[in-house]
Amino acid sequence: MSLILQKIENYDQFVQAFKRLSGLDLKLYKENQMKRRINNFINNHGFKENYDQFFQAITGNKELYNAFFKHLTINVTQFYRDERLWKVLQTKIIPELCKNKQFLKFWSAGCSAGQEVYTLASIMAEYFPDIKYSILGTDIDVNVLKQAKEGIYEERDFASTPGYILNRYFNRVENKYQVKEILKKNITFQKHNLLTDRFEQGFDLIACRNVVIYFTEEAKDILYRKFADSLSPGGYLFTGSTEHIFGKNNLKLKSVGSFFYQKQP
Ligand SMILES: C[S@@+](CC[C@H](N)C(=O)[O-])C[C@H]1O[C@@H](n2cnc3c(N)ncnc32)[C@H](O)[C@@H]1O
Repeated sequence: MSLILQKIENYDQFVQAFKRLSGLDLKLYKENQMKRRINNFINNHGFKENYDQFFQAITGNKELYNAFFKHLTINVTQFYRDERLWKVLQTKIIPELCKNKQFLKFWSAGCSAGQEVYTLASIMAEYFPDIKYSILGTDIDVNVLKQAKEGIYEERDFASTPGYILNRYFNRVENKYQVKEILKKNITFQKHNLLTDRFEQGFDLIACRNVVIYFTEEAKDILYRKFADSLSPGGYLFTGSTEHIFGKNNLKLKSVGSFFYQKQP
């Protein structure tokens, strides 16, 4: 059965049809930026802003659908992105968490192909070898999650990675690098939509970085509220290096240094 019976005449109708097809509600992303990205993709693929023809094309062509989804979700990332903030995490945040806990529960929300997850795992392995932990890595894009599970990366992904971390926790395979099994053992990757799916509870640290930049202000408000609920008292939210949370007092989240927010009891 066709997912759409009526001809798609405009952007709004395309957004509705795409939500039925993919589960991704583009209305929760900033319209100007999203529209521009979508129109660029459609035009570059020869559809000249003909939403109807483009929708029929992605419905019948998995490769084009995947390329479009990837274009929308923007999954650029790297290991130790904003290295100085990972240093703060290593020297201040994790030691603070370890004072009261034997087991730490982490979540990388919008983890792309896993670089952020393995960055955190390498810090735990290198500096906190006696602390038990789990890391949940989630993303809406199943293609990046596939790469995350394989754990194979290009050299350019490691531009900010300390050399000793690369040598200890990755194997060189031809001209790429593969995560060693020792780093994978406490990690689970799962598909998850931050705008619609249920959140697990009891996290000590949630890293949600460079994910919300295209979300509307309303969508961000709801998201930060849900993150606050998902954290254990004393747990931390780690945001991207351009992302500030407004109205954070209402959320029981207190800023404790740039881009780290702590849940108040
Ligand atoms: C730019 S990457 C950020 C990766 C990593 N956190 C970092 O800072 O380098 C943004 C990721 O957010 C994911 N994303 C976008 N919308 C999402 C949603 N509604 N739910 C879950 N993930 C989403 C994208 O698929 C993409 O992999």
